[in-house]
Amino acid sequence: MGLAPEEFMEKMEQRMLFSDEDKSLLQSKADWGKEIAPEMAEYFYDYLEKDSEMKAILHTTEERIHRLRATFIDWFYEMFTGMDNWGDEYAQRRWRIGLIHVRLGIGPQHVVPAMATVVREAQKKIKSQGKKESLGEALSKICMIDLAFIEQAYLEVSSNAVLRETGWTEGLFRRLIATGAEAM
Ligand code: HEM
Repeated sequence: MGLAPEEFMEKMEQRMLFSDEDKSLLQSKADWGKEIAPEMAEYFYDYLEKDSEMKAILHTTEERIHRLRATFIDWFYEMFTGMDNWGDEYAQRRWRIGLIHVRLGIGPQHVVPAMATVVREAQKKIKSQGKKESLGEALSKICMIDLAFIEQAYLEVSSNAVLRETGWTEGLFRRLIATGAEAM
């Protein structure tokens, strides 16, 4: 097991039907993305703060939340620019974000509703400002690709840790999961 972020990115682009038209549209609205990013960060962290578990993670150290606001703003803007046109650099960055969340113990139960919040608030903004519906669709697609990176990071990190620790083969591991799921 081992994930090549660039290959994963390509696969996700295909599966999410993230097209060249979506990319051009996002890039043409990059200034707008930058403009609304701080407001989106506000919605995002206000939402996370309402959950006691997530609030505790956000305030582990005093400066963490400030750092996070800044990184969220960068992250949001990168979805519009695509960094290197959604190439290797983009994929590596998204993979790293996934790994950081895994290390912090922030699981799918936290990340999925958090991403849903980003999509919801961005859609509201698009509607209220009379922007094209297709912009909302393109943004939702890239949000889902970014989410897939974080989710996949969980699986990769957990599986690799088990294989390393036990010396099991991948085949054996998969069989154990299949029988374990059957027994549940
Ligand atoms: C839509 C989902 C999310 C996105 C896009 C996102 C984005 C990011 C980014 C870009 C970073 C910085 C990574 C780096 O330093 O390279 C980060 C770190 C972090 N995120 Fe998230 N995040 C998400 C969900 C969450 C959730 C649900 C929590 C839980 C409370 C969370 C808590 C954190 C923490 C604690 C850090 C590390 C901060 C530090 O000490 O530097 N994130 N996140």
